[in-house]
Amino acid sequence: MSDFTSNFWSVYVAAITIIGIVACLLLLWFSGKAKAMTANDNTTGHVWDGDLREMNNPLPRWWVWLFVITAVFGLAYLAMYPGLGSNPGKLGWTSLGQHKTEMEKGEKEVAPLYARFTAMAVPDMAGDAQAMAIGERLFLNNCAQCHGSDARGSKGFPNLTDGDWLYGGAPATIEETITKGRMGMMPPMAAAVGTPDDVKNVANYVLSLSGSPHDSVRAELGKSKFGACAACHGMDGKGNQAMGAPNLTDDIWLHGYGENAIIAMINNGKSNQMPAQEGKLSAAQIHVLAAYVWSRSNGSKVAAK
Ligand code: HEC
Ligand code: HEC
Repeated sequence: MSDFTSNFWSVYVAAITIIGIVACLLLLWFSGKAKAMTANDNTTGHVWDGDLREMNNPLPRWWVWLFVITAVFGLAYLAMYPGLGSNPGKLGWTSLGQHKTEMEKGEKEVAPLYARFTAMAVPDMAGDAQAMAIGERLFLNNCAQCHGSDARGSKGFPNLTDGDWLYGGAPATIEETITKGRMGMMPPMAAAVGTPDDVKNVANYVLSLSGSPHDSVRAELGKSKFGACAACHGMDGKGNQAMGAPNLTDDIWLHGYGENAIIAMINNGKSNQMPAQEGKLSAAQIHVLAAYVWSRSNGSKVAAK
């Protein structure tokens, strides 16, 4: 209740709570008192529907005691737990504290398990059924919303199972990608290429690199303009993993297939981000995840072991 700026509201809330409980007890006491009788046959004199009479009996004992016990329980609870304004209660309980204790307990329980994985190399873990089961859980909870539950990705979100890597598929590289995140950046390139016709020509040259359907005359004209792209994608168009520039010759398209998609890339460029997971996941969890991701494109190597 640190959001109270002065003590007033805390006292106000506490007072209403106490007054409420006292008022309940007063009501009980008041309605438990014997009423003055108007008739001498132990009725109150109220009659409904012709012959229904209200008797002047006291409240049942068990009911009165239940009521009192409830009120006492409420007061004892308020003394121990936070509830009276900003009073923290005798036990000092907070939901945050309870969450922390439970998290610490959970982490302690899985620590030996993760210690075993941390000592293992990624390819060994890929053959370990328990590591893969945990890796899959972690993936479904933290990665599937972008990369898909089968890790095959979608437009803009890379397929992690095809062996085609923007940044590299070595275990340490995958681990670095997950830990630090990645920021793929291609600037708009139309101005560097020339006229819209030049852009169309380069796009056809790019299509020709992967043997995709293209206009070969335009591709020939566009070839010389590809120099503007070579700094990142390489002279041969095979990409550069140091900067996450994709291989343009493998017929795998992260941002869409065909002339229009490539023209859009050249005209608009693209910023694409893989969010860093450090701080969200522990180093041990990232190690297990890296093994899971690695195993998805190295299945045959694991089976051969
Ligand atoms: C918010 C969406 C998002 C989430 C969540 C996410 N990723 Fe990514 N990830 C991306 C994007 C987008 C890229 C591509 C970045 C680029 O184009 O430069 C990427 C790239 C990657 C790469 C590099 C692929 C390559 O070809 O080099 C790996 C590995 C990866 N992610 C693994 C994971 C794992 C494991 C998780 C779960 C901990 C995860 N990602 C969670 C969006 C996401
Ligand atoms: C400054 C570096 C840089 C330059 C210059 C550059 N690119 Fe890119 N390009 C990238 C990066 C990085 C990506 C991946 C963006 C991402 O992370 O999703 C990319 C992506 C692409 C894609 C999408 C590939 C796919 O799989 O969908 C195409 C097509 C492309 N570039 C074509 C070109 C062409 C043509 C040129 C020259 C006119 C060019 N690029 C110049 C860095 C560059």
